[in-house]
Amino acid sequence: MGAHMFVASIYDALMLPADRLGFEQVRRMVVRSARGRVLEIGAGTGLNFKHFENADCVLAIEPDPFMLKRAVPRVKTCAALTQARAEELPFPDKSFDTVVSTLTFCTIGNPLKAAQEIKRVLKDDGCFFFAEHPIADKPFLANAERVVTPLWKKLAGGCHLDRDIVSYFEAGGLRISEIIRLDSFFVAGKASKSGNCLKPGFQS
Ligand SMILES: C[S@@+](CC[C@H](N)C(=O)[O-])C[C@H]1O[C@@H](n2cnc3c(N)ncnc32)[C@H](O)[C@@H]1O
Repeated sequence: MGAHMFVASIYDALMLPADRLGFEQVRRMVVRSARGRVLEIGAGTGLNFKHFENADCVLAIEPDPFMLKRAVPRVKTCAALTQARAEELPFPDKSFDTVVSTLTFCTIGNPLKAAQEIKRVLKDDGCFFFAEHPIADKPFLANAERVVTPLWKKLAGGCHLDRDIVSYFEAGGLRISEIIRLDSFFVAGKASKSGNCLKPGFQS
């Protein structure tokens, strides 16, 4: 994972069209579901921070120093930001009620290790909430994503369009208890160690 000064500088502007087309609502839905002691992985420029209304305390990690710098002013009360990778979370076992990831598993270098780490830091009754863009569900779109990904990765800070992201969660030991396919490109859902995530589902 490298540092991406240019991508960080235009990230918020790049997200505007997606957020206006409905992704902002998805962020709200996923992030407002987070309760208790919360970890956000790959916080980017901190676009999610304003939606953590129901969390007691939020810790966020982000490895890219340029993203991190832009996220700092968005940190709210009882939140802390640490430079770290999802593959090596600097937190003890079973230390979070909720882990949140939005649009991060496309970019993480070792998504299987990251899923294992999320499982490790979640409490036994904890929940993992996610909104990600896995490979498209329609074969012709999925093929296009496979073709475009080698170039796209270089332009978009390491983002893969062709990952079967949910399969990494499952291979990492997380059990999916709810999943919503929002369109051909985006999914949102929740997972946990047991598959019986006791926390309330998505909040609108
Ligand atoms: C597309 S951005 C998403 C940012 C933010 N989650 C959002 O929803 O706007 C992907 C983020 O994942 C971060 N990232 C890349 N590799 C990572 C890793 N190994 N662990 C955690 N985050 C990583 C990137 O630096 C970037 O900030």
